[in-house]
Amino acid sequence: MPTTTLSKQATTTKPERAVHHSQRAAFQGTAVKDSTASKAAPEKNQTTAKTTPHHQAQSQSQADPAAPMVALENVSKIYRQGSCGLRDVNLTLPKGGFLFVTGPSGSGKTTLLKLLYGAERPTDGSISVNSQEIHGLKGDRLSRFRRQLGVVFQDYKLIPNRTVSENVAFALWAQGCQKGDIARRLAPTLRLVGLQHKAECFPSQLSGGEQQRVSLARAIVGTPPLILADEPTGNLDPENSRQVIRILNRLNAMGATVVVTTHDLHLVKQSKHPVIQLQDGKLSWLRK
Ligand SMILES: Nc1ncnc2c1ncn2[C@@H]1O[C@H](COP(=O)(O)OP(=O)(O)OP(=O)(O)O)[C@@H](O)[C@H]1O
Ligand SMILES: [Mg+2]
Repeated sequence: MPTTTLSKQATTTKPERAVHHSQRAAFQGTAVKDSTASKAAPEKNQTTAKTTPHHQAQSQSQADPAAPMVALENVSKIYRQGSCGLRDVNLTLPKGGFLFVTGPSGSGKTTLLKLLYGAERPTDGSISVNSQEIHGLKGDRLSRFRRQLGVVFQDYKLIPNRTVSENVAFALWAQGCQKGDIARRLAPTLRLVGLQHKAECFPSQLSGGEQQRVSLARAIVGTPPLILADEPTGNLDPENSRQVIRILNRLNAMGATVVVTTHDLHLVKQSKHPVIQLQDGKLSWLRK
């Protein structure tokens, strides 16, 4: 595990504890940079949204076990400024699959994941995740949809004024989990990512790699059926990168479907999972 540089200032000054609604939204699924958010209606029933147990959300839309977990049909994403995110992408990923997404910087990897968790909408084509068309989802329906996803963001999106434990627990709390359930899940998840000794640290007191592992812990603590990990090893040394892939493999063996973007072809070569490459938004298969 990488060593940690503790910031003295951060250890002595306890940050302001208030959590802005947009930070809660990130965990409920209304991700911070959500281009669809401005169009989304405010949640009509906050209470329902907060108290629905996460396993209910997980079980929704899972009627057909043979249906793919992810299906993209002729999906293109052209951003307003004209830059191309994806070009006519067709992709099917079965439930329980594990897919690596590679490609150079700017090739569309994050765009693909954003489309899958509904932070961006396709310009063309259709996307379904766990048998649910995500095109028209907004507001609390989008939030409920996102509860079946664990997302590791490329830029972590940790809440700066919350400890490691709180950042990870917050994801469960936002889904309506009870205290006991949160406590039961928290410790083993932190142990899994090797951060039990940093549980009471704030993000500013962690190295980049440690923050990345908090982000991973937050994504997996609710054992979601679909994990979308955007460069989860981008800031890690080779041993920690292998450890992260081992964790994702373990969750995959337990039934989770996993999509991982990475620049690290060495890491990809060490596994036998299917690999796609994006190049200017165009998809090709490197290994099926
Ligand atoms: N919000 C946005 N507005 C306009 N253009 C965008 C936006 N997000 C991404 N793009 C553009 O879409 C293309 C794909 O970007 P994307 O972030 O998906 O690439 P990436 O493969 O994840 O890159 P990296 O490896 O650097 O993370 C790039 O040309 C990028 O500039
Ligand atoms: Mg990216």
